[in-house]
Amino acid sequence: MHQYIKKILTKLQDCCASVTLAICIVLLILSLLFATFKPANKIVHVLLISREIYPLHVIDKRFLSIALDSVLIAEGFPHFDLKNPYLVKLMRPLGPGYLRIGGNMADRLRFVHNIDFSFKIKTIATEYDGECPNEGHFCDAWDRPNFTMSDTEWMQLNELAQQSDFTILFDLNCLIRYPNGSWNFENAEDLIKFSNDHDLNVIWELGNEPNAFRHVFDYEVNATQLARDFKQLRKILLRYPKYKNSLIVGPDTTRPDLKHKESIIYLRDFLRTANITVDAITWHQYYFNGKTATINDFLNPSVFNVLESQILIVKEIVASIGAQLKPIWLGETSSAYSGGVPDCSNRFVSTFIWLDKLGISARNGLSVVIRQTFFGGNYSLVDTNLEPLPDWWISVLFKKLVGPEVVPCYLAASDEVRVYCHCTQKNVFRYTLTSVIIYGFNVKNVEVNVRIDGYGSYVLEYILTSDGHLTSRNILLNGEPLHLFPNGTLPNFRPKVTVAHPYLTIPPYSLVFWIVPISSQSCYNVL
Ligand SMILES: *[C@@H]1O[C@H](CO)[C@@H](O)[C@H](O)[C@H]1NC(C)=O
Ligand SMILES: *[C@@H]1O[C@H](CO)[C@@H](O)[C@H](O)[C@H]1NC(C)=O
Ligand SMILES: *[C@@H]1O[C@H](CO)[C@@H](O)[C@H](O)[C@H]1NC(C)=O
Ligand SMILES: *[C@@H]1O[C@H](CO)[C@@H](O)[C@H](O)[C@H]1NC(C)=O
Ligand SMILES: *[C@@H]1O[C@H](CO)[C@@H](O)[C@H](O)[C@H]1NC(C)=O
Ligand SMILES: *[C@@H]1O[C@H](CO)[C@@H](O)[C@H](O)[C@H]1NC(C)=O
Repeated sequence: MHQYIKKILTKLQDCCASVTLAICIVLLILSLLFATFKPANKIVHVLLISREIYPLHVIDKRFLSIALDSVLIAEGFPHFDLKNPYLVKLMRPLGPGYLRIGGNMADRLRFVHNIDFSFKIKTIATEYDGECPNEGHFCDAWDRPNFTMSDTEWMQLNELAQQSDFTILFDLNCLIRYPNGSWNFENAEDLIKFSNDHDLNVIWELGNEPNAFRHVFDYEVNATQLARDFKQLRKILLRYPKYKNSLIVGPDTTRPDLKHKESIIYLRDFLRTANITVDAITWHQYYFNGKTATINDFLNPSVFNVLESQILIVKEIVASIGAQLKPIWLGETSSAYSGGVPDCSNRFVSTFIWLDKLGISARNGLSVVIRQTFFGGNYSLVDTNLEPLPDWWISVLFKKLVGPEVVPCYLAASDEVRVYCHCTQKNVFRYTLTSVIIYGFNVKNVEVNVRIDGYGSYVLEYILTSDGHLTSRNILLNGEPLHLFPNGTLPNFRPKVTVAHPYLTIPPYSLVFWIVPISSQSCYNVL
């Protein structure tokens, strides 16, 4: 600010030599008003906190991961040709990551092989996501027949994952049970043996949202029983060399809710027995119901804030059983359950709540966030014609630019302007200086000025805006619409070099990534 005023004063001195004093005084007052009041009203400060205490957290290199719902297998992969090489083009920029294959229908899946044909019972289930809408709905009413996954489909899924730099996280059916209540693992072991024999890179989970089985399947598997079944799964995996050290994650409970505590109790009881067995603790999170939510929910910071309080509840449960060192994953997550909100969850407007989820999850030390879904439903990253949607572009930029080290930064602002800080991803466009990346957004209808305290040099700026409609399928980078080349090649993501002094600006309803080359010592790339 002072430098800025000094500059203005120097200019005014020059000016005073040639024009009358009166005009100069008016100009001086106007300039001071401009410099002091107008921007100051709107400026928000980012304070990068001293380097001694960071990184706050180091997230997994697979932090941003993706999901395919098991219902896609049940329905016979409509519009999703596993052998289409274009799919690899769309998935690869999101790798490395986990490709989770799961959801409600995982607990209806049977693996079949060594048969000439596998006839598919097409399900008539219309729900894509895993979360049962327990807000007054009867999920038992849904039709969920058993279905098969053939060895050919399984091999094709693995080939797709491998070519795109993904590791499959497969959700095993835990609802095939003996009359005494324990898990009948014959079919699961069949799949595990087959996968071992074909050297497939897979990690495992068992069941989907077990605390909601009563709603979804009119059946119950209590937490201690499920924990025992997880131990059984570990025993099975130890029999196969490929999976001796394979990860098991779970139990994929629904989001914690202080009003209806059953998910909290289930998670706690499960961990009391299976704490040692699981390598990461997974839970599912959605903000709202896709059938009832509106566009306002996608722009409401108090909705965004719910995630952090849920993370704190889960961390408390985990700490209460002494497992605070276990990684915590969002095992399945999106904006809205019940398949997303049509024309919102897959439009520009959903980018804010998605980037916020990534920022909040990283800042709170979650290791992995699995986006429901890559394909399928109204919350997908690409549509049924394999066109990338705005959240796909945000995910790709996140992957390219944002490094794993979370750096503490503090923003003095209203809730509608939010930023998160990490070290910049290594080798960003051959940009070798280590640097901090600030990413975030402004969901106000006016522009906002942001000052990075103590920093006045240049930044590399990526501003993402809509084409004027929040429910547009398009997204613009620094004013240019983002498109893939017809052969599926990514465009060059060209940043704009912008001077941070006296402040940077986030336009209304837009997102931003700023690479801030503070100094080579200021951000350690610890990996
Ligand atoms: C699906 O399989 C489970 C487990 O074997 C069984 O209990 C259930 O009745 C089957 N559902 C249908 C609709 O056949
Ligand atoms: C439940 O029944 C199965 C099949 O008969 C048996 O293998 C298993 O040991 C039983 N489990 C318990 C806990 O009794
Ligand atoms: C949990 O389920 C198992 C198998 O059905 C049963 O044997 C056991 O008694 C149940 N435990 C509790 C606490 O309900
Ligand atoms: C959970 O595991 C941790 C070690 O990973 C151990 O210290 C703690 O006591 C375990 N808690 C229970 C309830 O077994
Ligand atoms: C999106 O939602 C609409 C309305 O519920 C539904 O008809 C449509 O099939 C959904 N689209 C996809 C790709 O699932
Ligand atoms: C894809 O197309 C673009 C633009 O025509 C071209 O520059 C690029 O080399 C192509 N990439 C591949 C892999 O063919």
